[in-house]
Amino acid sequence: MIPAEAKKRIADLRQQVAHHAELYYRQAKPEIPDRDYDKLERELSDLEKQFPQFAQKDSQTAKVGDDRLEGFTTYRHRQAMQSLDNTYSEEEYRAFHQRLVKQLEREALSYVVEPKIDGLAVSVTYEKGKLTRAVTRGNGEEGDDITANAKTIHSLPHELKAGKKTPVPDIIEIRGEIYLTTEEFQRINQEREEAGEPVYANPRNLASGTIKQLDTREVARRKLEIVLYGIGYCEPQIAESQSGFLALVKQWGLPTVEKFWTADGIDEAWQGVGQLDKMRHDFAYATDGAVTKLDSFALRRAAGSTSKAPRWAIAYKFEPERAETKINAITIQVGRTGVLTPVAELEPVLLSGTTVQRATLHNRDEIERKDIRVGDYVLVEKAGEIIPAVIEVNTKRRTPDCKPYKFPENCPECGTKVVQLEGEVALRCPNYDCPVQVRRRLSHFVSKACMDIDGLGFAMVDELVTKGWVKGLADIYGLKRDDLLTLGKSVEKSSDNLLAAIEASKQRELWRVIHGLGIPHVGVAAAKDLAAHFRDLEKLTEATTEHFIANKESVISGIGATMAEAITGFFKEPRNRATVAALLKAGVEPQVAAKTATSSRFAGKTFVLTGTLPSMSREDATAKIEAAGGKASGSVSKKTSYVLAGAEAGSKLEKAKGLGVAVIDEAEFLRLLEEK
Ligand code: IVH
Repeated sequence: MIPAEAKKRIADLRQQVAHHAELYYRQAKPEIPDRDYDKLERELSDLEKQFPQFAQKDSQTAKVGDDRLEGFTTYRHRQAMQSLDNTYSEEEYRAFHQRLVKQLEREALSYVVEPKIDGLAVSVTYEKGKLTRAVTRGNGEEGDDITANAKTIHSLPHELKAGKKTPVPDIIEIRGEIYLTTEEFQRINQEREEAGEPVYANPRNLASGTIKQLDTREVARRKLEIVLYGIGYCEPQIAESQSGFLALVKQWGLPTVEKFWTADGIDEAWQGVGQLDKMRHDFAYATDGAVTKLDSFALRRAAGSTSKAPRWAIAYKFEPERAETKINAITIQVGRTGVLTPVAELEPVLLSGTTVQRATLHNRDEIERKDIRVGDYVLVEKAGEIIPAVIEVNTKRRTPDCKPYKFPENCPECGTKVVQLEGEVALRCPNYDCPVQVRRRLSHFVSKACMDIDGLGFAMVDELVTKGWVKGLADIYGLKRDDLLTLGKSVEKSSDNLLAAIEASKQRELWRVIHGLGIPHVGVAAAKDLAAHFRDLEKLTEATTEHFIANKESVISGIGATMAEAITGFFKEPRNRATVAALLKAGVEPQVAAKTATSSRFAGKTFVLTGTLPSMSREDATAKIEAAGGKASGSVSKKTSYVLAGAEAGSKLEKAKGLGVAVIDEAEFLRLLEEK
C-alpha cells in the first residue's frame, strides 16, 4: 500500500471504529459482531504501525472504549482499568508467551486461565470490608458511578466475610463483570416482544443497557448478576498471585469464576483453554473466550503494560458457533397482544450441542434489512450462546426462484389487516377477538405468574374456547360441571379438581389479577407496585395520568410515562373495564396484604423520595418507612413531612423547597429512624 492510500484507509477505519465503539460501549446496541469490530481495530492498528507518520496519540487503538453516559456522576478509579489484547489463533497465543519469556528473561512462567465473561466491566470498592462504590470502566481512568444500581444485585455482598486467615484490606478495588443469566435474558426479551418493543440480541447488551438506567427500581426488576476476578488498587497488599487472590475472593463470600486452571508453561495453559471451551456452555454466564494471566504479581509488575492493555495477560477468543442451513419456511406467530413475530423454520442443524430448527426473525424490518427469503441458505449463530439468530444470507447459494419475502398484510389467524402502532417496530393484529389472541390472553390469565389455575394448560383453554364456553376472562368462573363432563371419559375427577382450582383462584393477590389482565408493558414487578400503591382494582381502573405522573416525575417510583400511558389507555377501553367488572361480579376478590408496621416511629409521617440514595434503593427506603409506620408518597404537598433526596434529585426537590417542606438526606433519614 502506498502512503496516500494508507492515509485514506486509516482515516476511514478510524471513523468506523469510533462509530462502532460508541454503539458497543455507550449504547449497548452494536450493529456488527464483536469479531468484526476486532478485525477493523486490528487492521487500523497494523496500518498505524506500518505507517507511523499517520499514527495518532489518541487513536482508538491506543485507548480503551469509553462507556460513560450523561446523567451519571463520574468517579476516578484509584488504579486504571485496562483492556485486553485479543488473539484468534494458537500461533498468536504462543507468541504472547514468547514475548514474556524474552522480556522477563526466564523460561518458566506460570499462568492462570480463566473464562472471559461476556458482560460489562465493573470495579467494586470495599473499604474496611464494606461495599462503598461500584463504577463502570468508563475510559479506563474514570467511569460512571453505578453504586445504587449495583446494590440491587443480590449476589453482591454489601460486606466482605473476614476470617482469621483472610483479613480484609483497608481499601480494595475488585474487578469483575456484571451479566445476566440466560433465563433472565429470555424472560425480559419475551416480555419485550409481547409489548412490541425491540428485543436485545444478547445478554451482554441487555445487562449493559440495564445497569446504565437512571431508575434504580427498573434495574432491580431485571435480575443482574456479578462475577469478580481481578484486583485493582489494594492497601495493604493481600495477595501475591492471581490464584491466591481468587481463593481470597471466594472466602470473602464474593461470586467468582466457576472454574480456572493454573498452568506451568504455555502448553498447559493452551490445554486449559481447550478444556474451558468444552465446558463453558454449562456456566451461568456467556463466555466468549479465555483469559490467560501470569500468576505471579511480582512478574506482572515486571512485565508492565501498554497504554491500553497489560503485557501479562491475553484473551483468546473462541470461534462463535455458527452453522449454515436452509430456511424451509417463514411462519408468523401471533402473540397475546396481537404482535406478529416471524419465525424461520430451518432444516435442522447441530449448533453448540443442540439441534436448532427454528430461529426468531424478530420483525418485518429485520427480514427486510437482511433480505431473508424462504429457500435461502443462512448462517445461524447462537447469539450470546443462546437464541439462534440468523446472521446473514449466503447469497451465493440463492437460486433464481427465491423471491423476496412478503410480510403478510393480514393476520394469518383471523385475516384482519395488520397495523403498525406509532413508535413500534412490531406489526400487530388489531382484532381483539382474533382466535389466537383470545386463547393466549386466557392462557396468560390462568398461568402460574397470574391466577395460577392448575389444570388449565393451553390445550384445555383451546378446547374451552372452541366449545364456545369461554370467551372473556371472567367466563372461566362460569364454567359448568355438566359441560366439563362432556369432554371425554373419566373426566369426573379432573373436572372437579379444575373447578376447585378455579374457585380457589378467586382469592388471589391483587397483583396477580392486575398482571393477568395483560396490560401492555405491565409485568410482575410493575403489577406488584401498582397493587401496593392502589390496593384496589377499581381505583386502578379509574386512575388518570396525574395519578402516575406529576410535574413530569413518576408518582409511583418505577412506573414511568410509557407504562402510565399504557395503563390509562388500557382502562379507557370499555371492554377492559367490562372485564374487570365481570371478574368482580363473578366473585373474584383480589387480596392485598395488610400493611404491618414493626414500629410507630414514623406514624402519621409522609415521605417523598427523589433522586438516587447512596446506599439504598428506593424499594429499601420505602420498606423502611412503612415498617416504621410511615407512608411513602409520590408527590410533594404541604402535607409532606419529609422529602428524602439523593443524587440527581429532580423537580420534587424544587417543589419541597418552595413549600418549605423539610428536605433530608440518607444519613439524616437513618438517624431519624434510629432516634429514641
Ligand atoms: S482481566 C487489565 N479477566 O474483558 C485487564 N478480564 O476485553 C484485566 N473480562 O476489560 C482484565 N472476563 O472487562 C479479565 N476473566 C477475566 C475477564 C475479563 C472478562 C473483560 C474485562 C476486560 C475485557 C477486555
